[in-house]
Amino acid sequence: MKALVLAGGFGTRLRPLSCTRPKMLFPIGDQPLMDWTLKNLSQGGVDTVIMAVNYMAEALVRYLGPTKFDLGIIYSREQRPLGTGGPIKKARELLDGEPFLVLNGDVISDIDVRRLIEYHKAKGGIATVALTPVSDPSRYGAVELDWEGRITRFVEKPEKGLEPSNLINAGIYVFDPKIFDYIPDGRAASIEREVFPVLANERKLYGFEFHGLWTDMGIPDDYLKANQIILSKYEEGVRMGEGAKVDPAAKILAPCYIGPGAEVGADSLIGPNTTICDHVLVGKGCRIENSILFPGATVGDYSSVKNAILGENAILERWVKVESGSLIGDYSMIRDGVTITDGVSICPSKEVSESILERRQVM
Ligand code: GTP
Repeated sequence: MKALVLAGGFGTRLRPLSCTRPKMLFPIGDQPLMDWTLKNLSQGGVDTVIMAVNYMAEALVRYLGPTKFDLGIIYSREQRPLGTGGPIKKARELLDGEPFLVLNGDVISDIDVRRLIEYHKAKGGIATVALTPVSDPSRYGAVELDWEGRITRFVEKPEKGLEPSNLINAGIYVFDPKIFDYIPDGRAASIEREVFPVLANERKLYGFEFHGLWTDMGIPDDYLKANQIILSKYEEGVRMGEGAKVDPAAKILAPCYIGPGAEVGADSLIGPNTTICDHVLVGKGCRIENSILFPGATVGDYSSVKNAILGENAILERWVKVESGSLIGDYSMIRDGVTITDGVSICPSKEVSESILERRQVM
């Protein structure tokens, strides 16, 4: 079975972290996001993945190579962004013949793709969309289903109170090869906005409701939630990489990941829900909670990081506080005593010596 993974988006809502790496390579625990997707596909009986790449394609090609987790990986490279529909049409020659899977590469899910495909075949439509229930559908595409499981209406980002249901498009689909007739050639197209409404009108679009693990990685809070979900699967609670050093007077609260070569100083309290990547240095008396620290970041003595993400080699000096959805770009330097809070983003390589207490981007 073949699957096409949409892996070429800019990830604009996760800038500045996505300025220097594709979202699919963002770390979650001991592996990047992409690995979780590929493992689930491999376990579900997929043998070949077509990786639709555009933004920072080379980083993905270098990381994944021609095969991973027993999957053959073929790259479909776009000269310009083709959106969520164009890459499917572009890969037609690689996909034609049998029904195939398409996935947004920024989704983490344990959906049983075998069951999804069986359901698709049983219904006989042109497309089947995996649907997952959420408490607030307004950020997603919500659907209305008829009693036979057909999607009758597709409402992208419905206003609060006007959602047709709490079931949303999970970004995981099965398509019959007839789908190619519905996608325009040679230009960017949105599968959600241009193709699904037409299929719904023609009564050829079905929904497959599933209740397992699901989260996408659109905004920083989603990324932190994905991190929490993946870490909570660690049976050992706290996973430590090779050569990680935690001072005996430090405390680690599960679930937590501490990568190879990382160091944590005395009297620091780390976790829960925290990914500390390889070669991160955390000083003494620090508090790090519900956060992700990319490789090589440094957290100086008595600093705290809460619900925040530090980019690669970012440096917090001493007595620094980073909180509430803030993102610190790679190689940034936050000076002694500075507080950064309320969704502030700092561009890569910036130096910040005064506190920033309201949402803004520091370029
Ligand atoms: P934002 O820019 O923050 O909206 O993030 P995004 O780039 O992930 O966009 P979006 O959430 O709409 O994308 C859904 C999925 O489609 C993601 O897995 C993207 O990587 C992928 N995607 C979006 N645009 C393109 C594109 O032009 N080409 C390819 N190959 N994939 C795309």
